[in-house]
Amino acid sequence: MFRILYLSAARRPFSKIELLALLEKSRQNNARLGITGILLYRDGDFLQLLEGEESAVRSLYHRISADPRHGSVRTLVEDTCEQRLFEDWSMAFRDLADPTLKQLPGFSALLNQPRDLADHPDDAMQIVLYFSAAGRR
Ligand SMILES: Cc1cc2nc3c(=O)[nH]c(=O)nc-3n(C[C@H](O)[C@H](O)[C@H](O)COP(=O)(O)O)c2cc1C
Repeated sequence: MFRILYLSAARRPFSKIELLALLEKSRQNNARLGITGILLYRDGDFLQLLEGEESAVRSLYHRISADPRHGSVRTLVEDTCEQRLFEDWSMAFRDLADPTLKQLPGFSALLNQPRDLADHPDDAMQIVLYFSAAGRR
């Protein structure tokens, strides 16, 4: 299993409707490609984990990187893994600006500054892990 974690910035903020359309399309495609993961969004910043077979993940990441709706795409983590963090999802999603998230135990101050994560890939992976079933165990 192979995974890529990246950070990017929307060219302009996505509306709820645009995010939902992106998710619907992604879930259709990813299910077909055997790719799972999570997409985190906050005020125009994206943090996304893609996991699956290496060639499938790489080619999807290549396609996503070229998407004109975002830029400053930075690869934070690229490695192999024993198993998926998000087995049950073709693409999980959280809007980190959602106030209900702040009530979750362990909600980290880091979540308030996704842009800083560019220099802290381990912290970025911790956040993703937090939203996975493994993180809740
Ligand atoms: C932040 C971001 C994350 C994306 N994630 C995915 C994804 O996980 N899967 C996917 O198929 N497309 C994703 N896309 C969309 C792709 O860039 C591209 O528009 C889409 O795959 C095209 O699909 P189509 O060829 O079926 O129209 C993402 C785009 C952005 C801006």
